[in-house]
Amino acid sequence: MPAATLSRMLRITPQQLRAFEATARLMSVTKAAQELCVSQPTISVQLKELATTLNERLIETRGRQLYLTQAGEELAAAIREIAGCWQRFEGRLAAINGLINGRLKLTAVTTAEYFVPDLLGPFAAAHPGVEIDLAVENRDQVIKRLSQGTAELAVMMMPPTELPLESFALQTNPLVILAKADHPLAARPLTLRDLQNERWLMREAGSGTRMAAEQFFYQQQFTPNVAMSLGSNEAIKHAVAAGLGIAVLSALAIDTPRWLQPVQLAPQAETQPQPWVKLEVAGFPIERQWLLVWRRDQPLSVAAKGFLHYLQQQLSQTMSS
Ligand code: PGA
Repeated sequence: MPAATLSRMLRITPQQLRAFEATARLMSVTKAAQELCVSQPTISVQLKELATTLNERLIETRGRQLYLTQAGEELAAAIREIAGCWQRFEGRLAAINGLINGRLKLTAVTTAEYFVPDLLGPFAAAHPGVEIDLAVENRDQVIKRLSQGTAELAVMMMPPTELPLESFALQTNPLVILAKADHPLAARPLTLRDLQNERWLMREAGSGTRMAAEQFFYQQQFTPNVAMSLGSNEAIKHAVAAGLGIAVLSALAIDTPRWLQPVQLAPQAETQPQPWVKLEVAGFPIERQWLLVWRRDQPLSVAAKGFLHYLQQQLSQTMSS
């Protein structure tokens, strides 16, 4: 780094940077003060000094709401980059000493929450120095994290084409149609046309499950009668059990298999009667795959590389056994 750049950077104090980072993240001076255990006026003074040093307005107030100016957004992004760079440096230091540590920033789409903890458990036990940060969100939010760099690795079904990504397949993800246990169309072969008059429950916009279902319906030239959108797999399961409609859902959300165990599309007669039933519809299950995805154009931290390597080993052991 040129000496002049470094000396310009060092005109900013660590306290000012922390005050700005917390305020920008929490969008509140009060919350930033609480988090940093200082008074509100202290934060305000630090923000003011920072703006004077940079000769830029960083934060604006409209009514009672704080907004980052364009310069503020750029500073927030630069702080995230510096923090990421420092974390990678710490990881490399640990690697020099033969350790994998640092923060593993992972994100997973909501249906993956049924098996991602199985993936993480043995890795976390073997590497106590790794702090795991797992965000479970829908497809849109997962893509946002990958594009902003707030997650390095993602578990998802349909990676976006607009980002330069690498991936490998983790597990199959069959999508099935779920109905209330006593549904009159249960236990007989059906086509989508038989479901024309049903009330469909869909996941929220931005969900990959919804996107996969819509793609399939489009291919089949089928227009479902959408009665309701719900924001989680659990909400869908309960709504189906309550007889509010039928839904396309990942079989993993129903049968919760263990990691690396093939997903069994279990017969309905199970020890405990289930409040729902999988309909036997031509074309279902829709066969999808969970992928582990990461950015090709950005360096991975030591923790992320370690986790990737661990998963690849696990998969190759399963394939060879
Ligand atoms: P989602 O998950 O429905 O929670 O987005 C499915 C996926 O995108 O893999």
